[in-house]
Amino acid sequence: MNSGEPAIIFQDVKKNFGPLQVLKGMSGQINFGEVVSIIGPSGCGKSTLLRCFNRLEGISGGRLTVDNIDLSVSKMGMKQLRQLRANVGMVFQQFNLFPHMTVLDNLTLAPRKVLHQDEKESSRMARSYLDKVGLGEKANAIPTSFLADKSSASRSLVPCA
Ligand SMILES: Nc1ncnc2c1ncn2[C@@H]1O[C@H](COP(=O)(O)OP(=O)(O)OP(=O)(O)O)[C@@H](O)[C@H]1O
Ligand SMILES: [Mg+2]
Repeated sequence: MNSGEPAIIFQDVKKNFGPLQVLKGMSGQINFGEVVSIIGPSGCGKSTLLRCFNRLEGISGGRLTVDNIDLSVSKMGMKQLRQLRANVGMVFQQFNLFPHMTVLDNLTLAPRKVLHQDEKESSRMARSYLDKVGLGEKANAIPTSFLADKSSASRSLVPCA
C-alpha cells in the first residue's frame, strides 16, 4: 500500500434491506493516506456503507474493491475475508470494550491475536496511541470505571486509540 494509491473503489454501490433501499448507487474512491469524513442525517446509510467496506454487510449491486480485494462477488473465501478484516478497523458508536479487561489489554488484543504482534510491541503502540488521545494514564484502568464518567469523550476515545 502506497500513499495516493486507491484503497477503496466503489461504483454504483447499492444496498437493500428487503424493500428498503439504503444505498442507491454510490460511487467514489478513497486513496491510501487520505482522511475522508462521511456526513449526513441519521439513517442515511453512513454506517451501512462502512459495514460494506469490511463485508459485515454484502452489497446488493454495483462494484466494490477494498485493498484490491473484490467485494462484489457474492461468495468470498474465509482466507480473503480474514485478510481483509485484519486490515480494516472500525470503531463503533457504542461503548464496545471488554469490561473485564484493562484498557491496555483491550487495545492490544486484536494486534496480538490477528497481527501476531508480541506483547512488548503491541503495548508500546497502544500506549503511544493512548498518549495521542490524551488518555495515557488510563492504560491500566478497567473500562467499567469509565461508565461513571459523565463525559462520553473518554469512552469514545479509548476505542479510537
Ligand atoms: N440490518 C438491517 N436491517 C434492516 N434495516 C437496516 C439494517 N441496518 C440498517 N438498516 C436501516 O438502514 C438505514 C440506514 O442505517 P445506518 O445505520 O446506515 O444509518 P446512519 O447514517 O449510520 O445513521 P446514524 O447517523 O444514526 O448512525 C436505516 O433506515 C436503518 O434502519
Ligand atoms: Mg451510523
